[in-house]
Amino acid sequence: MKHFLKETDFTPQEAADIFARAAEFKQQRGRSLARPLAGQTWAMIFSKSSTRTRVSFEVGIHELGGNPLFLNKVDIQLGRGESVEDTARVLSRFVHGIVVRTHAHAEVERLAAAGTVPVINGLTDLLHPCQIYADAFTLAERWAAPGADRFAALRGRKLAFLGDTACNVANSWILGANFFGMQIALAGPPGFEPGAEIRALLAREGRAGAAPFNFTHDAHEAVRGADVVYTDVWVSMGKEQEERERLAKLAPYTVSAKVFADAKPDAFFMHCLPAHPGEEVAQAVLDNPRSIIFDQAENRLHVQKAILAALAAARG
Ligand code: CP
Ligand code: NVA
Repeated sequence: MKHFLKETDFTPQEAADIFARAAEFKQQRGRSLARPLAGQTWAMIFSKSSTRTRVSFEVGIHELGGNPLFLNKVDIQLGRGESVEDTARVLSRFVHGIVVRTHAHAEVERLAAAGTVPVINGLTDLLHPCQIYADAFTLAERWAAPGADRFAALRGRKLAFLGDTACNVANSWILGANFFGMQIALAGPPGFEPGAEIRALLAREGRAGAAPFNFTHDAHEAVRGADVVYTDVWVSMGKEQEERERLAKLAPYTVSAKVFADAKPDAFFMHCLPAHPGEEVAQAVLDNPRSIIFDQAENRLHVQKAILAALAAARG
């Protein structure tokens, strides 16, 4: 069974096909006659809040002819202690696929292992691969000439990630940069180095050699020569009890207009959103003409539709 739990679950060729399909979906703006999910129901189990992931998947599944079934974890027996495995076995008898947003990454792996339908990772504490595919597609839209190879346009480009460099989006960009052939430099305070879990995953994927990322405490050093400057909130979902300490430690890593100006003159600013202006990024940077945050958000829809279609086709 084919799943999408991490960036490397598709081959580069499959990912290139997903980008091509996403571009078609975007051009058609929901008017496509293709209904690859006709007659299907996809469950969406969410243990955390969401605007973009929830809405883009619900709309996307609907546009592909399927029925999205939103399940807040607290409303199903999973929230009262039914096992992940039994939940996967039972849902597999009813639905054609599962999108899941949760805390422990192992939970989505267990769900995928125990069920008999495709599982899509809609964010865990470790990774957010749907976000990174949509981000990479957004950059390729800007950099690839019409009809040109989208992956080639990404290759060798430098992304600088500032702030909470140990969060899921940073981790996922480390794996994603490696997958898309980009360079990644991260700048954060002591204690925010990319952690053991992402390092172990890189090793398992055979991507731990030849410096898969650069980490520094110096924001200006990371940003120098960057084609993209990226940041994420300083207090991810589940870290609320650390808020005060995080805001204090991360304060030197705000993407200010001055920091952004250190990147290449045509560099883009990206943020997965939601943003906290005045914390991880200045309002002026969010408003900069080279800020492409809403393109990223929109492209979640088109890219995830292509991912859904690919998984449905792989299932046959
Ligand atoms: N970027 C993102 O995943 O947003 P949501 O938390 O709103 O889904
Ligand atoms: N790092 C953030 C991303 C939200 C899309 C979080 O996990 O809350």
